[in-house]
Amino acid sequence: MRRIGGEKVSDIGLGSWAVRNPKAFVETLIYAFELGINLVDTAEMYRTEPLIREAMERYGSKDIFVTTKLYPWNIRYDLEKSLKRQVERLGKVPDLVLVHWPEDIATEVRELERAVDMGLARMIGVSNVTKEQYEVALQATKKVEIVAVQNKYSPTFRKTEEILPDLERRGIALQAHTPLDRGEALNLPWVKELADKLGVPRASVVIAWLLSRSPVVIPIPKTESIEHLKELWEGTKIKLPEA
Ligand SMILES: NC(=O)c1ccc[n+]([C@@H]2O[C@H](COP(=O)([O-])OP(=O)(O)OC[C@H]3O[C@@H](n4cnc5c(N)ncnc54)[C@H](OP(=O)(O)O)[C@@H]3O)[C@@H](O)[C@H]2O)c1
Repeated sequence: MRRIGGEKVSDIGLGSWAVRNPKAFVETLIYAFELGINLVDTAEMYRTEPLIREAMERYGSKDIFVTTKLYPWNIRYDLEKSLKRQVERLGKVPDLVLVHWPEDIATEVRELERAVDMGLARMIGVSNVTKEQYEVALQATKKVEIVAVQNKYSPTFRKTEEILPDLERRGIALQAHTPLDRGEALNLPWVKELADKLGVPRASVVIAWLLSRSPVVIPIPKTESIEHLKELWEGTKIKLPEA
């Protein structure tokens, strides 16, 4: 298990950007919940909240940690309405609300603090931040702590590692988005070699590698295939050789 804001979540979550087949995605989500995955990622931009709601309802529990992301302009100018729309679409108060990409991060995180005050978000965080924006966000919040950063992090994209030591020190979760780099990471020679050597799928190696980087890293791959999901989940079980 990993942690977000002190709460236990599964080692990986499931993303929901660019779902091609909504029916298959819902079935995959339900299967994921049955495996023990209790973390899902959405955004007002993705319009997948109703699919997540349907999966939670069919699974029979809303005790699933849902991250959602709001447009920066909606956070600044239309916060309450945007959040109420999220609650309505999800059928629950989102557990974690992030600014999808910051424009005026100090203002946006202060507005997100209001979201918690209003009872329309349980926790807050930021997404797609540079080191400088991350530092501004930490300074700007007064009442509510930032519990998560959602940045791209994959073996093919490692810039986010520059904030990893600070995230670890503060116990802030790093939701690693695009962890497979939409398939690119599966083509890395060392990933192929290691997968062959261990006799496991390449996607499992990528997930295991990300998890090995730090206890605060939580990959959030997207799949709408139960076979692919099993490979991603297997990545949480294997241990890579130290080297
Ligand atoms: N904060 C942000 O701005 C931001 C930006 C991008 C993404 N995200 C979040 O991060 C999530 C993940 O990123 P992503 O969806 O862009 O990319 P990704 O997870 O790196 O890759 C998804 C692609 O990999 C395929 N895939 C999944 N499991 C696989 C496996 N075991 N073997 C081979 N292929 C596999 C999926 O196809 P199938 O569906 O057919 O399995 C899909 O085409 C998003 O869904 C979204 O929730 C956030």
